[in-house]
Amino acid sequence: SDDNNDIGDGDGGQLAHRFPSAIIIGVKKSGTRALLEFLRLNPAVKAPGPEVHFFDRHFDRGFDWYRRQMPLTTADQLTIEKSPSYFVTKTAPERVHRLDPTMKLIVVVRDPITRAISDYTQTASKRPGMPSFEHMAFINATNAVLPKMTPANAQGVNTSWGAIRIGIYHRFVSRWLEYFPLHQIHFVNGERLITHPAEEIAAVEKFVGLRPTVRAEDFVLNTEKGFPCIKRTDGTTHCLGKTKGRAHPKVSPHAISRLRTFYAPLNDRFYELIGRNFGW
Ligand code: A3P
Repeated sequence: SDDNNDIGDGDGGQLAHRFPSAIIIGVKKSGTRALLEFLRLNPAVKAPGPEVHFFDRHFDRGFDWYRRQMPLTTADQLTIEKSPSYFVTKTAPERVHRLDPTMKLIVVVRDPITRAISDYTQTASKRPGMPSFEHMAFINATNAVLPKMTPANAQGVNTSWGAIRIGIYHRFVSRWLEYFPLHQIHFVNGERLITHPAEEIAAVEKFVGLRPTVRAEDFVLNTEKGFPCIKRTDGTTHCLGKTKGRAHPKVSPHAISRLRTFYAPLNDRFYELIGRNFGW
């Protein structure tokens, strides 16, 4: 072998569909697509294009079906999959563990308020005439299902709305921790993935055991949208698709401040659980 592109040589030369050794399990709308696209700058990383949704929707198809959804790789490459719905799927931790108790789990997290607004923006883009964010986020007489008011919910936040519920990270992480040790879960800072993509990617490369190859020079900031794009060696740039980096609606400062009060103790429980503070 004469250069480092020649990763197909030697014992690992046999092309096969292999199970992933790492999965990006969530969190939806935190930058999961950006993470996967940026990680693929490392030539050793291989991933299926679409989300596979095996551990939530298609589990009855069996492990061999799952394996066959994976790209052809040599043994020295790293197969990785991302399906952000796994994070909130009750049965997923046990199922992933059953496949491979050594699976490395990657979770992108961002401020649950921004995440909720992003989630809302995505839903509203598909559902014209959807009520305002504020209308959805707080309990009011016209909500079809009125959740119980609890002390934790003195802000009248509508925790039965998925966009709000998914941001209660500690609840979901606790379930994963019943099956996987904390050191097998890597958290990506979704805010820093936007401002410092190379650093966040380097941390993931280290976590999955790859030689770091992604560098700051691989990115260029799209000044129009404010998000980083990939700078290719031929000088062209590649940004994520139109559905990533959408303009968010203006949410009233009062609503934001009620959500801050609501999420503050929940974020603290998350930080305590994982031993890391994101400062939201
Ligand atoms: P918005 O479109 O609401 O801004 P996911 O891929 O998990 O669905 O997350 C989508 C979010 O990723 C986007 O939400 C955006 O904020 C964030 N993101 C992070 N890095 C990005 C990038 N380089 N380009 C576009 N969006 C990025």
